[in-house]
Amino acid sequence: RIRQRERLYRVNEEAAELYHRYLLNAEAARGAREYLRQRDVPETIIRTYRLGYAPDPEVAGWNFITDTLRRKDLPVVAIEQAGLAVRSDRGTWYDRFRDRVLFPIYDMTGRVVAFGGRILGDGKPKYMNSPESQIFDKSRILFGLYQHREAIRRQRQAIVVEGNFDLLLLAVHSIDNVVAPLGTALTRAHVRTLRGYCDEAVLLFDGDRAGLKAAMRSIPFFLAEQVDARVALLPEGDDPDTLVRRKGADAVLELVKAAKPLDEFVFEALVREHGLTLEGKNRIIGELRQVIAGSSDEGQRSLMVAHFSEKLGISPGQLLSGIQPGKAAPE
Ligand code: CTP
Ligand code: MN
Ligand code: MN
Ligand code: MN
Ligand code: MN
Repeated sequence: RIRQRERLYRVNEEAAELYHRYLLNAEAARGAREYLRQRDVPETIIRTYRLGYAPDPEVAGWNFITDTLRRKDLPVVAIEQAGLAVRSDRGTWYDRFRDRVLFPIYDMTGRVVAFGGRILGDGKPKYMNSPESQIFDKSRILFGLYQHREAIRRQRQAIVVEGNFDLLLLAVHSIDNVVAPLGTALTRAHVRTLRGYCDEAVLLFDGDRAGLKAAMRSIPFFLAEQVDARVALLPEGDDPDTLVRRKGADAVLELVKAAKPLDEFVFEALVREHGLTLEGKNRIIGELRQVIAGSSDEGQRSLMVAHFSEKLGISPGQLLSGIQPGKAAPE
């Protein structure tokens, strides 16, 4: 089993290097380099994060990475387990990542455990990640934490953004205490990991319903791990990438400074959405019950009940009635 893991690391390492050199040097990667230039990602950032490019099959065939790695004596089963090769119905293999910009995902010892890939234009799916494997559990890994661990430790603060380009563009503007989950909501394991580096997380989520939901669900995790969390609302239609490009680093740092404590942010957002009429309160109670039920700890559930019922001006019993303990509590 250890041998198997070692082989997966080697596959990903060789692939990261190949994809990276291809992006930097290949004539056929001109379009990918142009794409990154248009998104204001300079070559220094391409090198720091070892960004890569998986070529278009029309240029390099359907087996670019699979064949190159096999020629280096890496077994095709390992390439498949790493998620870089996909087995077809005919029992042959083809490359999972094609015509995409690639972001290597590192673990905390600096080994590549997976890739995220973005299509160059508008096609679908926009993003594609390596499947989970023996070395890649996406509910634990945060993109950028390896590169940014020292900055996060120094500042005792981590900024959490949703997307890969959000992280890169903040880095372009010298904001480098940033991490991004890989297309999943923040998990308790993510928060536990962050706790090893900082006391506080600032969530810079899109100001949409999905952003609010993600913030809500994470309340019990921050409480349980004793990491302070604050949330900043981005202007409508912006993400950190577009905001920092239009308004620069200071605008983002202002937002971070003004970020509100997570529980206040969630409560105010719910009041804005539902109002404080009888109907509105009823809906807010429904949403808060789900948040509270996300905690597996009795003491923390009653703490949240006491806190939110006071904010709502109802009795703890009124908020509590009907809550099933720990029900919606995914790790
Ligand atoms: N994501 C994913 N799979 C998807 C969509 C998104 O893994 N099908 C992840 C990616 O890591 C992405 C992040 O979720 O960066 C945020 O998604 P979204 O806001 O939709 O993308 P952006 O990062 O804003 O993408 P871009 O700026 O490149 O258009
Ligand atoms: Mn969104
Ligand atoms: Mn974006
Ligand atoms: Mn986005
Ligand atoms: Mn700029």
